[in-house]
Amino acid sequence: MNILVTGGAGYIGSHTVIALLESGHRVAVVDNLSNSCEKSLERVQEITGENIPFYPVDIRDGDGLRKAIKSFGEETGQKFDCCIHFAGLKSPNESIRLPLDYYDNNINGTLVLLDVLREHGCKNLIFSSSASVYGDPAVIPVTEECPKGQCTNPYGWTKSMLEQILTDMHTSDPEYNIVLLRYFNPLGAHKSGLIGEDPNGIPNNLMPYITQVAVGRRDELSVYGDDYDTPDGTGIRDYIHVVDLACGHVKALQAIERKCGVAVYNLGTGRGYSVLEVVRAFEEANGIKVPYVIKPRRAGDVAVSYSNPAKAERELGWKAKFDIVDMCRDAWNWQRKNPDGLKCEEN
Ligand code: NAD
Ligand code: WQD
Repeated sequence: MNILVTGGAGYIGSHTVIALLESGHRVAVVDNLSNSCEKSLERVQEITGENIPFYPVDIRDGDGLRKAIKSFGEETGQKFDCCIHFAGLKSPNESIRLPLDYYDNNINGTLVLLDVLREHGCKNLIFSSSASVYGDPAVIPVTEECPKGQCTNPYGWTKSMLEQILTDMHTSDPEYNIVLLRYFNPLGAHKSGLIGEDPNGIPNNLMPYITQVAVGRRDELSVYGDDYDTPDGTGIRDYIHVVDLACGHVKALQAIERKCGVAVYNLGTGRGYSVLEVVRAFEEANGIKVPYVIKPRRAGDVAVSYSNPAKAERELGWKAKFDIVDMCRDAWNWQRKNPDGLKCEEN
């Protein structure tokens, strides 16, 4: 298929571009580089040996998108069959301070994108949703039938609302095929160590914080709360290797090909790990000590969230292959080889 990947220069997008190319799909990327840089795509080209058409466009810019689609058509004589839509702002914390930025970028951006794709005749879309749509999950492990919950931040609401908007597109026109992929907690990096998670500033997420402590950029990890109702008192999450997640998108294309209408899948391993278990796994996988201090709970965190990923296995034949040790090893391989990330801010 010919696939337009929005946000393809980012963490999950760049790994997915590799998986798509390796599966024989043709890919073009649109990204405004607000949280990435072209270097990640250069590295993807180095890994795959393929040239990737790249359009530095903001998805809120309809004319920019139209031009990108037109140039792709002129260069290749092809149209896009499907869009995999990663582009968006993704920090729950930041979204509490900057709700308008999040609603504008994520919601308005997607509306503009949908409008341009409709003009182009592309009615197939795979969307990066998130376990955050479940809020504090009513059922553990979380199945897709678990009711969507009260999100604890505007970021989560953008995902929840966009799922509804995309579902409404299908209701209005049954030719739309929409796959909503609810990611749990992506970790790790491509085995080459050439691309990986590259946050700007102080990392919000657990693994980049751990790897930055390990590489000496930060003194110690703050463990947010050891008084949850969990075996060791720290929060439990379903960490999933980003390469497994990337493969989930390739498998999701099969649902599009089958004309799935609207299909929702959890992408997780089905296994929860506590914060301290992740710290220990990292230490054992890499032989590096990660000093930590216990701090109060972080506002908005839930105690436990892990998936039941059976639906994706049953319907897509997708199952996570990598375990927590692989994730810790690959995250460290990336950080060790790129202590300061890709230095995107300097570009
Ligand atoms: P990322 O920030 O690394 O990648 C997102 C990419 O989108 C970046 O390259 C950024 O420059 C680009 N972008 C942002 N706004 C844009 C716009 N208006 N126009 C064009 N490009 C734009 O994030 P990621 O971790 O790769 O996440 C990808 C998607 O998956 C996001 O939608 C995110 O919300 C979702 N998601 C991420 C996680 C996670 O923990 N990483 C979990 C669940 C869902
Ligand atoms: C994991 C665990 C923390 C950092 C977020 C978003 C979610 C999704 C994935 C986008 C929790 C603890 C963390 C630290 C810590 N993203 N922790 N010290 O909060 O589960 O999910 O990222 O869609 O929407 O909310 O991930 O990696 O931040 O935290 O103790 O420095 O690690 O309290 O228990 P989270 P996380």
